[in-house]
Amino acid sequence: MLKQRVRLVVGNWKMHGRLAGNAALLQMTAQGAAALSGSVQVGLCVPCPYLAQAQSLLEGSRVAWGVQDISAYTTGAYTGEVAAEMALEFGASLAIVGHSERRAYHRESIELVALKTGQALAAGLTPIVCVGETLAEREAGLTQQVVGAQLGGVLDKLSVEAAARIVVAYEPVWAIGTGKSATAVEAQEVHAFLRGLLRAKDPIVARVPLLYGGSVKPENARELFLQADIDGGLIGGASLKGEEFLAICKAADRAGAEQ
Ligand code: PGA
Repeated sequence: MLKQRVRLVVGNWKMHGRLAGNAALLQMTAQGAAALSGSVQVGLCVPCPYLAQAQSLLEGSRVAWGVQDISAYTTGAYTGEVAAEMALEFGASLAIVGHSERRAYHRESIELVALKTGQALAAGLTPIVCVGETLAEREAGLTQQVVGAQLGGVLDKLSVEAAARIVVAYEPVWAIGTGKSATAVEAQEVHAFLRGLLRAKDPIVARVPLLYGGSVKPENARELFLQADIDGGLIGGASLKGEEFLAICKAADRAGAEQ
């Protein structure tokens, strides 16, 4: 029997949402997820102030929740930071780390992303480690070099057991929020490369879910999710629209059931 691949679709709300609107979106996502066949796992990464709201409206549903970043430190004088254990206290199970917006606007280095990954794992959260190249890097033929260094910098710091507990998201910077997704073939090519890096760490690590992110929509989700090394998606803009997000989850659910 074929071992079914884990499908995972995670929404990244970024700095969007307000209490009133969130409630409807969280409830709709929880209800929609209940109708999925179970071939996909669903998560939402919300702004930290809304963790308690996500917990109260998603607890008991099939939707996991989490944060979009965490501190590289456990506790202490780090004004403005949120520790992984704090997120855990609100039932979070996911933490995005190394999103390209944080690498670009907050100067996060590969080393810092590795520290954050370690913090998430130590607290028992699943880190979703984001990697991706800019358009200039792609055009210069540097895609593999860039994403290889970003993922390698994290894998080098982890034991095989720890590395097997991460999730990786390939998000080409030029496709994020632009409406211009990578084609399924372009994405698969990079995913196959990343899978090779994971396998080189250990065959067990090769099984970690590899998500694609960057302008995923209901219209392109199915083709992306049917690729050999694309196990789901990290969804920005479309996760703010309940119907679109659920349609993407459904596409992953079906892809999971078909393969
Ligand atoms: P997008 O964002 O779906 O709006 O392109 C994806 C992301 O940044 O995670």
